[in-house]
Amino acid sequence: MIEQSKLVGLRDRAIAVLRDNDIGYFTKPAPQLYPHQWNWDSALIAIGLSHFDPVRAQSEINALLAGQWKNGMIPHIIFNPEAKSYFPGPDFWDIEDAMEAPKGIETSGITQPTLLALAAYNIYCNIRDKTAGLDFLESTFDAISACQLFFKRHRNFDDSGLACIIHPWESGLDNSPAWDPVLEKIKPKSMTKFQRTDTGIIPSTQRPDEMEYSRYAYLVELYKKWKYSQKKILHNSPFIVESVVFNTLLLLDLKAMLSIGKLLKRDMADTIAWASGLESAINTKLFDPNSGCYCDYDCRNGRLISRSTISEIFPICAGIPSGRRRDHLIALLKSDSFWPEHGFGLTTVNRHSGLFDSQKYWRGPVWININWFFINNFINSGDTTLALRLMENTIQLVSQNGFFEYYSPETGEGLGASDFSWTAALIIDMIEMNER
Ligand code: SER
Repeated sequence: MIEQSKLVGLRDRAIAVLRDNDIGYFTKPAPQLYPHQWNWDSALIAIGLSHFDPVRAQSEINALLAGQWKNGMIPHIIFNPEAKSYFPGPDFWDIEDAMEAPKGIETSGITQPTLLALAAYNIYCNIRDKTAGLDFLESTFDAISACQLFFKRHRNFDDSGLACIIHPWESGLDNSPAWDPVLEKIKPKSMTKFQRTDTGIIPSTQRPDEMEYSRYAYLVELYKKWKYSQKKILHNSPFIVESVVFNTLLLLDLKAMLSIGKLLKRDMADTIAWASGLESAINTKLFDPNSGCYCDYDCRNGRLISRSTISEIFPICAGIPSGRRRDHLIALLKSDSFWPEHGFGLTTVNRHSGLFDSQKYWRGPVWININWFFINNFINSGDTTLALRLMENTIQLVSQNGFFEYYSPETGEGLGASDFSWTAALIIDMIEMNER
């Protein structure tokens, strides 16, 4: 147990971050850098909100669902018409001619890890008025199902049962070194000139580099040309990847949907079969017997991407590995490669891989959501010692350094955006977990 007195002030400070970033119906991930609504940010933010303002937590989810495409896709960004200073904005995405795009709302044309069922289920668990909680689950069930089914219908690249992503931004781990071998093969041809806004706000040493950004923008230009037709994209895109983290989170979300289905007394036979097929596909296609670790898969070039990143151990979060496989991965997680002795939690790239950068976005820094996913698994699997150690590391990191987007695993220094919403939201959730 972490001492109660240390936590009270931290919880109040976290609530203040969420209140300050609240624009009324959704929460900005950060005040300046991210002025719109982001998909997986909002799902995690809703979990934090559900502890002190369950009504606002529900509107966070409803605002996301308002941007849903006709094919079920929840876009990775829903644009705030009031905010102008972000690249790429609505003009660059230009979804107007896309058959499946919603009308009257501006969004990006790709998605992000889906955590909507997980968020909705957490809202139900944390709300006192269970009748209101059930009403919320009932009212969102069909839209959340459609969002999950999008992956089965439109992202099942090779019938493996895994969902593929079509852009590094879809992975959530934008500039993970795992995407380098795929991106390096992409040679942008003629491109519209663009001006980044992120590096005017955050030092460029902490953000993706120019090579990555030009590929990100180039892929958007291709998809725009193909009017965001999933068929054309899957057929022609040079970036088709089956991501370990993305599929692990999809499985977690399907499992949350099964809990929701049980509460609502729905027939969930199809989801049960789908979740079990997905779990076995992660355990076979995304597992490398040589290293004993999980690996992302480059569908376009038909090979595993062997890069020592958080992907290697992430399936622990959905209880996917068991027995000796899990023991091996837990040993790797506890080692100096991913969890330095001096604390702070898990790095996103193996510190000894030669790819590790302690400052740069998803190329090494500690992220609070990654720690949180592991903590949840440790709690659910009864490993309270590990859960408590990781939770103490995380809470201490944030309480000493502030609510940052990510942190240096070497010094604990806060990096990227300050006043970052999901850091605040998940700290509130951890404080509540600690009290249970
Ligand atoms: N995470 C991206 C960014 O840095 C967008 O999705 O702007």
